[in-house]
Amino acid sequence: MKSLANQLITWHAKSGRHHLPWQKSKDPYAVWVSEIMLQQTQVATVIDYYQRFMKKFPTIKALANADEEEVMRLWSGLGYYRRARFLHEGAQMIMHDMQGIFPSDFEMMMKIPGIGRSTAGAIAAFSFNQRKAILDGNVKRIFARYFLITEWTGLPNIEKKLWAYAESLLPKKAIAIYTQALMDLGATVCNKKPLCPLCPLKKTCVAFLKNKVHAVPLPRPKKNIPTQSIYMVIIKNYEEVLLEKRPHQGIWGGLWSLPQYENKTINTGNWVKKKFGFDAVMIKKNLHITTTFTHFKLNITYSILETKSQRSTQPYTWIPLEDLEGAALPAVIRKILLKLK
Ligand code: ADE
Repeated sequence: MKSLANQLITWHAKSGRHHLPWQKSKDPYAVWVSEIMLQQTQVATVIDYYQRFMKKFPTIKALANADEEEVMRLWSGLGYYRRARFLHEGAQMIMHDMQGIFPSDFEMMMKIPGIGRSTAGAIAAFSFNQRKAILDGNVKRIFARYFLITEWTGLPNIEKKLWAYAESLLPKKAIAIYTQALMDLGATVCNKKPLCPLCPLKKTCVAFLKNKVHAVPLPRPKKNIPTQSIYMVIIKNYEEVLLEKRPHQGIWGGLWSLPQYENKTINTGNWVKKKFGFDAVMIKKNLHITTTFTHFKLNITYSILETKSQRSTQPYTWIPLEDLEGAALPAVIRKILLKLK
C-alpha cells in the first residue's frame, strides 16, 4: 500500500492544478504574495489580483518603497485588507532587518507579519523544498474526514493533534508537489460538497468508509458574541460622498469608511453641522444593517444627507461615487454605498 503522501503525489500528476500563475516561480517573494492572497480568497478571484500586484511590485524592494495608498488600491475588492498592510510592512521589515532577502529560516519567516505556521510551511515547501507541514482550512477538512475527527477543528487540543498528523504524513521527497496536492484535493475534491468517487484516498478515509463525510468537519460552535452599535452618515454633494480614512488600528485600519458617531440621542443634522461646519438636508433617516465579525456583531444605523458644501478636513475626503468601485472599503460599507448608485 502506498503512503497517503505518495497517493496524493500520484493523483496530483493527473488531477492537480498545474498552471496557476504563482507556480511559474519558486521566488519566495512571489510565493509569499500568492499565499497571503490565497489565505482567505479563492484561486479564481486571486489570479488577476496576483498578476497586477506582481507587475506593479515585482520585487520586495519595490513593494517596500511603495506608497501605502497604492498597495491598498491594488488590494481593493479582495477584502481582509489587513493582509495588504502586512505584506507592505513585511517587505519593509525584510529590507531593514533581513538584508533585503526573504529568509529561508522557518522561524525568521514567522516573524514577518501575516505569516503564521501554515503559511510559513507553504513558503518553505514551495520555495525552499523544506519538509514543513501546512494546516489551513482545506487541510483541516481533509484530515478531519480522513481520520474522522468529530470535534471542532479549531479547538486547541484538536489543532495540536492535526499538526501532529500533518507532520507525520510528510513525504521524504517531492514536498512541494505533495503540498500543492493537499491544497488541490481540498479545493477541488474534498470540499464542502465532496466528490468522494474522485478521491484518491477513498479506500482508507474513515469518514467515507463510515458514511460520515457530510457530518465532518463540525462547524464552529455558535458562541454568544457582544453587539456594538454605531451611527453613520452618508453625506452626498452632487456626485461625491464624504468618506473617512480610518486610523491604522482596529478592524478597518487604513480603509475608507463613512463618518460615524457613537451616541444615538444626537440629532444627525446638528452633528453634521458641528462636525463639518456645513448644513445638510436629510434624505433618508435611520436605515439599518448588521455585520458579524469573529468576536462581535456590529449594528449600523445610517442616514443619507445631501449638502451643497465641498468642505472637508482630515481625515475626511470627498470621493466621487464612480471611484467607489476601486476604493479600499470594508465590505459592509461597500454594500451600503453601492445601493446609492
Ligand atoms: N491555497 C493556498 N495556497 C494555494 C496554492 N499555492 N495553490 C492553490 N491554492 C492555494
